[in-house]
Formats: sequence, structure tokens, C-alpha cells
Amino acid sequence: MKKALILSVMVIFSLVAVSSTFAAAKCPQPRKTKAAPGAIGKKDMTAKADAANGKKIYLKKAKPMACSMCHGKKGDGGGKLGKALKPTPRNFTCAATMAKVSAGQMFHIIKNGSKGTGMVAHKKTLKDKEIWDVVKYIRSTFVK
Ligand code: HEC
Repeated sequence: MKKALILSVMVIFSLVAVSSTFAAAKCPQPRKTKAAPGAIGKKDMTAKADAANGKKIYLKKAKPMACSMCHGKKGDGGGKLGKALKPTPRNFTCAATMAKVSAGQMFHIIKNGSKGTGMVAHKKTLKDKEIWDVVKYIRSTFVK
């Protein structure tokens, strides 16, 4: 009897562990990233940006690695590499957190990185136009 109880407790624990490994990041999600300085946070050049090109960058082309490796293919912060990071990558599907994150803020952080987090700068690998493309893809696909 006791054995069966211990066994079922163990099964429950391992199920919880497995499901949390594959779960999306929290929502609302705490943000370590600081606000972009000056007026850049108010800038928005996504109107003429190309979301289809942004998708390619997000899922595959970005260097040193695809955004999806950390932020997840579904944009929920559940990418393979992202799970090991502290803080965890932004969950773009979390409306409560994304309400504070403007297009210009995203542009600035993608370009310059976010100090003290795993978010690297892309100013040497992506042109400004490409950054706006990826901002448009993320905002039109994942942000609700
Ligand atoms: C190595 C993992 C990793 C990769 C690759 C990565 N990110 Fe991030 N990203 C993070 C982490 C970690 C944060 C910081 C989360 C926080 O502020 O708490 C972050 C933050 C951000 C933010 C900041 C949002 C805010 O709260 O202001 C944006 C936008 C973003 N990433 C977009 C991208 C895009 C686009 C790419 C690909 C070009 C990318 N990231 C690649 C891990 C990554």
C-alpha cells in the first residue's frame, strides 16, 4: 500500500517536471530589460516593413542564432535554449507584459541587446530595415 502511494507520488512529480519543461514562459512575465533611451521607444517604422522577411529572420536567418531558439517558434518564450536562461526570454504572446513593450522598444533591444540577459545585440548582423521586418513579424503574429 505504502509502496503504491510512493510510486504514484513519484509519477505525479515527474509529470509535473516534464510539463513545466515544455511549458511556455510565465504570463504576466517579469521584465529585466530596461526601457530604450530617448525617443526611440516612440518610433515605429513597421508600416512599410516586410513581415514575411521578418519571419525568415526570426525562424532561421538571425545570427548568432535564430530568435526562435530562445523565444520559441510560437513566440511564447519556450525555445529550446531559452529554458536554461535567467531571466527567461520574452514571451511575446503575453498581452499583459507586451502592453508595455512598444515597436520602438523592441527595435532598440534587438539592435543593442539587453544587458544582464541572454538577449544579444544584432547591430552587426541585421540592418535596421531587417530589424523592423522582424518587429513587424513578431507584433503581427504573436502579440495579441
Ligand atoms: C540566446 C537567447 C535569445 C536569442 C537568440 C534572442 N533573444 Fe530576445 N531576449 C532573450 C532574453 C533572455 C531577453 C530578456 C528578457 C527580460 O527582459 O527579462 C530577450 C528580450 C528580447 C526583447 C525585449 C522585449 C522587452 O521586454 O523590451 C525583444 C524584442 C527580443 N528579445 C527579440 C528578439 C529577436 C527579434 C531575436 C532574434 C533576432 C532575439 N530576441 C534573439 C533571449 C534571446
